[in-house]
Amino acid sequence: MEALKVDGLSINFGGVKAVNDVSFSVEVGERLAIIGPNGAGKTTLFNLINGQLSPTRGQIFFFGEDVSDLPTHQRAQLGQARSFQIISLLQNLTVLENTLLTLHGTKPHRFKMFRQIQDFRDVFEKAVYELKRVGLWEKRGDLVKNLSYGEQRRLEIHLGLSMEPKLLLLDEPSAGSTKEESADIIGIIKNLESDITVLIVDHDMEMVFELAERIMVLHYGEVIADGTPDEIQIDQRVREIYMGVEESTDHVGAC
Ligand SMILES: Nc1ncnc2c1ncn2[C@@H]1O[C@H](COP(=O)(O)OP(=O)(O)OP(=O)(O)O)[C@@H](O)[C@H]1O
Ligand SMILES: [Mg+2]
Repeated sequence: MEALKVDGLSINFGGVKAVNDVSFSVEVGERLAIIGPNGAGKTTLFNLINGQLSPTRGQIFFFGEDVSDLPTHQRAQLGQARSFQIISLLQNLTVLENTLLTLHGTKPHRFKMFRQIQDFRDVFEKAVYELKRVGLWEKRGDLVKNLSYGEQRRLEIHLGLSMEPKLLLLDEPSAGSTKEESADIIGIIKNLESDITVLIVDHDMEMVFELAERIMVLHYGEVIADGTPDEIQIDQRVREIYMGVEESTDHVGAC
């Protein structure tokens, strides 16, 4: 079953074709990495998928439903979650406050006054559960800005997951992380339930090759390769784009 289908998607910024006639499908539970040099259009593609940007042309189907004209929050309600390249937590609030706010936002009855107290209890219990699971319960009173970058990333990804998404869009989840923190994040992604579909953008090729079942390569907004990690690794065009890799027998190299 198709979780996501993108059909002829394009967006121009002035004269720049940031995403240019991109079409692909992703099966439920598939782990697809999208790679490409800086400015290739990866983040823009995510912005189109989750509705932060409207395409100049093309359509997006989520579990068969045309979501092209839906705003971001409605796509989120359908099961899309996004982890941002720039951390989206509220820096001056505590770990617990951030968790409560995120979880409260997912409750469908939040505007009904008479449900509020029970709702809050439910949300609080879930917050305790999630924070223990992510190993940040001891730091619940700390301001987010005082956490390490890796802890913030971990919290952000977990909060995204607590919304029980069907599709997870991860834009550079390991950016700015230490090796240990990256390994941590890889572990979280590997342990995701198998029916969660994951699209992951990252420049860390170790992470990409460890997680992806399939890799799509963007270059100047166009898909120039789409295949298994083994196929991508020997793809001549991909190797040309990643300078200095012709000699390498390793992964396609840093990008
Ligand atoms: N809001 C915008 N207005 C104008 N141009 C934009 C905008 N967002 C992105 N672009 C341009 O679109 C192109 C694609 O950018 P995008 O951020 O999607 O690339 P990327 O593949 O995510 O790069 P990186 O690996 O550096 O994160 C670039 O040329 C960028 O300058
Ligand atoms: Mg980007």
